Amino acid sequence: MPISERLSQRVAQLGSGVFARNDQRKLAYRRRQAEPAAGLPPLLDLSLGSTDLPPPPQAIEAIAAALDQPQSSAYCLQAATLPFREAVAAWAGRRFGVAVDPQREVLLLVGSQEGTAHLPLAVLNPGEPALLLDPCYPSHRGGLQLASAETVLLPLDPQQGWRPAFELLPSASWDALRLMVLGFPHNPTATTGDQAWIDAAVARAIDHDIVLAHDNPYVDLALDGEAPALLRHPDWRRCGIEFFSFSKGWCLGGYRLAFAIGAPWLITALGQLKAIVDFNQSLALQAGAIAALEQAPHWPEQLRQVYRERRDRMAAALGAQGWEVPHASMALYHWLPLPAAARAGGLDSEAFCAALLEGTGVCLTPGNGFGPGGEGWQRLALVHPSDQLEAAAARMGAWLQQL
Ligand SMILES: Cc1ncc(COP(=O)(O)O)c(C=O)c1O
Repeated sequence: MPISERLSQRVAQLGSGVFARNDQRKLAYRRRQAEPAAGLPPLLDLSLGSTDLPPPPQAIEAIAAALDQPQSSAYCLQAATLPFREAVAAWAGRRFGVAVDPQREVLLLVGSQEGTAHLPLAVLNPGEPALLLDPCYPSHRGGLQLASAETVLLPLDPQQGWRPAFELLPSASWDALRLMVLGFPHNPTATTGDQAWIDAAVARAIDHDIVLAHDNPYVDLALDGEAPALLRHPDWRRCGIEFFSFSKGWCLGGYRLAFAIGAPWLITALGQLKAIVDFNQSLALQAGAIAALEQAPHWPEQLRQVYRERRDRMAAALGAQGWEVPHASMALYHWLPLPAAARAGGLDSEAFCAALLEGTGVCLTPGNGFGPGGEGWQRLALVHPSDQLEAAAARMGAWLQQL
């Protein structure tokens, strides 16, 4: 076999991914749309949870002010991240009323995606089983694949309001599990979830000696009710680690800033692993993150108003086109069952997504990108103003009529 084909089984298993294929389709569409005679409408990309809303100016100003300081261009080892970790601990105290030790219980991350993808390498041996929600965010599955773990899927059921039905798993499976990866508010199902679900997970984790990883980048973006959190459970440091991000609540996705709060032994293990991989984000970026936490703590509040309005107007606009929209209780998404016409035409979620892009210039994310349980669904991100979303709904409705 030529060396160029002899890649690791891990990489082969990851494959090219739905998101990369969607990216190629968007590129091809943009090229065709740019041709003078094409007459195609411009691409409207609703496939990524990358917001059009601005970050807090205080964060950007703090980054800008720190850019020309020499230490911003130096490698940043763990000790130098202490001011960031102290700001995070203070935020956790205000947000959840918990006392977090910034020395031992906080870790800076290059995105919560990075943290959740690396964690399994730090806590699992090859072949050890880990529980994954289906559907789930791709880095949760990818992290288990990178660690050569055995994936145990817990299917989420729309009829149950996407509640993780832990009781479905036999007790022998619970005894074998080493890691559980959850995330509520939940992407892609647009479900806020319930603290009782996390509490039930903590109880199982403690009973069966399982590490509980809770991915919580939408903690401030519940549109109905309160977001659950691992940190709300008094026993969080007995078994768990929770991931938070500046990407969603503070609109800083491109800056790749996030953090984990967790049991000291988990923070140490993940930190040890990450020390092999990276040297932390620049102190300039950390200054922006500190400013976001300290000077713009209420930034997510006004985002919620915007997303609520977008959610409601888009649901009404799609409903008027005959595409029924299940209620989304969190930002930034609608999670849509494939329209009846698409099902009747035999389209699966990826074929539907590709055909929709071709026919309308509107790009969604096919549900199969989030696992087998996402088949039959599309994710729509509310990352453009309402009038553009309504225009997209009209284009999609007209196209659906012809299906
Ligand atoms: C559940 C979930 N986790 C992690 C991420 C990535 O967050 P970050 O930008 O902090 O890596 C996303 C982004 O959409 C997400 O939905």
